[in-house]
This record gives sequence, C-alpha cells and structure tokens, in this order.
Amino acid sequence: MRSYYIAGNWKMHKTRSEAAELAKALVAQLKDGKHKYLVAPTFTSLETVGAIVKGSNILLGAQNCAPEEQGAHTGEVSVLQLKDLGVETVILGHSERRHIYKEEDELINKKVKLALKYGFEVILCVGELLEEREAGKAEAVCESQTVKGLAGVALADLARVTIAYEPVWAIGTGKTATPEDADAIHAYIRKVVGKLYGADAAANIIIQYGGSVKPENAAQLMAKENIDGALVGGAALKADTFVPIAKFG
Ligand code: 13P
Repeated sequence: MRSYYIAGNWKMHKTRSEAAELAKALVAQLKDGKHKYLVAPTFTSLETVGAIVKGSNILLGAQNCAPEEQGAHTGEVSVLQLKDLGVETVILGHSERRHIYKEEDELINKKVKLALKYGFEVILCVGELLEEREAGKAEAVCESQTVKGLAGVALADLARVTIAYEPVWAIGTGKTATPEDADAIHAYIRKVVGKLYGADAAANIIIQYGGSVKPENAAQLMAKENIDGALVGGAALKADTFVPIAKFG
C-alpha cells in the first residue's frame, strides 16, 4: 500500500544558519512522525542540513540537478556532487524550472533518467497553468508532462519516482485546488501511469499535491483517495507550519 509522503521545498530561501535551525526543529518534532518526510534546501545548505537530518526519518533532497554527469556546464550542479553530499532525492520539473527557466519536457526527462541511473529517488512535478485549466486542458497538460517526463524510465525504476501534481495557479497564491479537483487530476495521472506501466504500478505510485498546502487544509487533501502526500513550499519554511502538515489528521 501507498504511504503518505510529505516534502518541504525550501526554494531559494534561508542562509545556512537559518536552514540549520529549521532542520534541527524538524528532526526533533518529527521523530515520532508516521509518514515519509523530505526536506529540500538550496544547494548551498545541503551539506549543513544533510549533517543534521542524517540518521533521522527525514530524507535530504535537492531542488534540481544538471542533465549531464560533469563537464563544461557553468552554474549547474551534477548528480555526482549531490551524491557526494548525501542527497537521496531530486525534485525535477518544478513549475518554476519549467516556466521561469524554460525547462522543456525533454530536458526534464534527461535529468529524471540520469538521477535514477545514479540511484536517487525523483519527485517529478507536473501541473497546468491557469489559462490551461480555464481552457479545459488540465488533464492533457498533466498527461503530456507525465508521459514525456517518464519516457524511457524502466518499470523497475518507477518505484523510486513520486509524482507531484502542482497546479501552477495554486503555487504561492493562497489558492488551493479543492480536494475534489485535486483528487480528480491525481486519479487521471494514476490512470496515465497505469497505461504506461500497468495496474500495479498505478496503484503503488505516490502522487503528492502541491500548491498552498497549509495546516488548515492538509487533512482534507490527504483524505482523498488519490492524494498521497504533499509538496509544500511557503508553509515548509517554518516548523510551526510544516510539522502540523507532516502530522496531519
Ligand atoms: P506553496 O506551498 O508556497 O504554494 O508552493 C508549492 C510548491 O511549489 C512546492 O514545490
């Protein structure tokens, strides 16, 4: 059966000392937590946070990786360097990477396959823009991003993939998809995974919801059949808001 997976994406926030303070609070307050947990600080805080969460029930994640192992890629960070820091998971295809930094599905797919090749778990983010939702294209966009993001990924590696449905219009805006709307897209993504990999894979894949998840709405979202966790942005920046989400219910 699927277990709940709550992840904090710290985006471009926090100095090392601020990151350390939050990580220490989370280790202390989540040690009796029953779910799977991850924090993804900026690259500059990975080593600091990694030392704090080591041996705890909180995994260490990176927010991106380069599409190549190493070489002339100014400004990029490779999977080899992330491995060296003890990173276990890489978030890929986040909407801020897709829309601000113009990452296309092909590039994201290259990163997904490289990260899996090096033994990482991957959180593959998908989600539609407001105009795509209003045009009735939410399912088609999520299907396309899922199919293209997973192209060439073997069934055996799919167990290390989590999908995060993050409707772009709900990120950082305070607008959450209703639990019903989110669940409908999650069910659709699960069906897409089923078409690609079969019924067992569809039943087992963890699909997180992301977009203005807060302590007040976490339990209603998690109660839905197809919502298996959360990828949290703003509310992940404080223990006071992340811990109640992580211990929803
Ligand atoms: P918010 O929780 O701030 O809406 O961000 C969601 C997100 O983008 C997590 O990756």
